[in-house]
Amino acid sequence: MTEKINFIASQRNHSPAPTIPAVIEAPTGFVADTLARPLQDLRISLTDRCNFRCVYCMPEESFGKDHVFLPRKSLLTFEEITRIAKIFVAHGVQKIRLTGGEPLLRKHVENLIQMLAQLKTPGGRDIELTLTTNGSLLAKKAQALKNAGLARVTVSLDSLDDDTFKRMNGVDFPVSDVLHGLDAAHAAGLGPIKVNMVVKGGMNDQEIVPMARHFKDTPFILRFIEFMDAGSSNDWKMDEVVPSAEVVRRIAAEMPLERIASTLKSETAERWRYQDGSGEIGVISSVTKSFCHECVRARLSTEGMLYTCLFASGGHDLRTLIRNGNTDEEIASVVAQIWRARADRYSELRSSFMNGAEQPQKKIEMSYIGG
Ligand code: GTP
Ligand code: 5AD
Ligand code: SF4
Ligand code: SF4
Repeated sequence: MTEKINFIASQRNHSPAPTIPAVIEAPTGFVADTLARPLQDLRISLTDRCNFRCVYCMPEESFGKDHVFLPRKSLLTFEEITRIAKIFVAHGVQKIRLTGGEPLLRKHVENLIQMLAQLKTPGGRDIELTLTTNGSLLAKKAQALKNAGLARVTVSLDSLDDDTFKRMNGVDFPVSDVLHGLDAAHAAGLGPIKVNMVVKGGMNDQEIVPMARHFKDTPFILRFIEFMDAGSSNDWKMDEVVPSAEVVRRIAAEMPLERIASTLKSETAERWRYQDGSGEIGVISSVTKSFCHECVRARLSTEGMLYTCLFASGGHDLRTLIRNGNTDEEIASVVAQIWRARADRYSELRSSFMNGAEQPQKKIEMSYIGG
């Protein structure tokens, strides 16, 4: 147990600060990686803490009372986050998603939202500012988030059945509080609101159809996510993955569905709509149908490490550059250099890892790097 705790803590990356390129270049609003994928989406983790212990993310066995979370001084301040975000926006980022852990646990998060909401793309447009939450604090905070300038929220909800939900969230949290949070977010105008359900075979797959039925004909867009082998503590097994094709098959047997086109090329979800016109669902198939070829997402950890893949084993320490007094231009050149060298496509390679090919080193936990 202690060994596991230390392992998770030591995974946090403290690699040496990236070197500043010899030639400093100003951002042009576009930078692409080795697979021609532009940098367009930034996910920022605001805290590694969470009030849930979801079995697929922060299982109690690994994140128990003894788990050591990051000390306050290692967290990026709101000013530091905004400064880094501005650099990414200058490189072409149009969408910023705040994640965690649970981002609403970060004190005065609405102050950060206010700062980020003022960023403009090089073309002068607003950026799309969104947040992923477990919904537990949403009833209390939705209006303040909206007032601060948040555009929309995505809420995680894995079951409508209290016993199943409590078993999955690990802390006996009731479904009704999340549903109240969803209503408050809707009333505050934080839509379109997406509801994310991670499907873990044998645990909540019996909830697929009830969840679809519940959210059909509502303003909420339900999305089913394949259980992923994120991090190193969730004891992932392929036979607990319910393929999206099976999710669609089970729902369509009762409520006929048809495929619809994605709004964005880089969208993670495949969209389906009910043939009777009563809304749509999404399926996110990062295990059975990877979407790495369109992955335009960068991730900034709570302590300012840049990760170019959800399954990366190492990050790039931007916090040290900021705290060492490097200029925006220098940091922007470092980011461009890192992105241009990016070749990540873990999900596409997963099947070869499962067939015995050598895996990357230890993967970072999703609660640290953000969902
Ligand atoms: P919107 O549709 O714009 O709201 O955002 P999104 O499609 O990026 O969805 P969201 O942020 O809600 O991500 C949904 C889930 O998809 C995450 O919680 C992850 O489980 C998974 N996911 C998101 N991005 C990636 C990614 O880059 N790689 C993999 N493998 N999974 C991802
Ligand atoms: N598999 C799939 N999704 C996960 N998330 C966290 N861990 C996993 C995992 N192992 C995602 C879920 C959740 C968000 C916060 O992170 O979508 O809603
Ligand atoms: Fe917390 Fe979200 Fe991870 Fe669940 S999935 S433990 S709510 S960060
Ligand atoms: Fe992007 Fe890595 Fe996910 Fe592939 S596995 S979609 S490269 S984050």
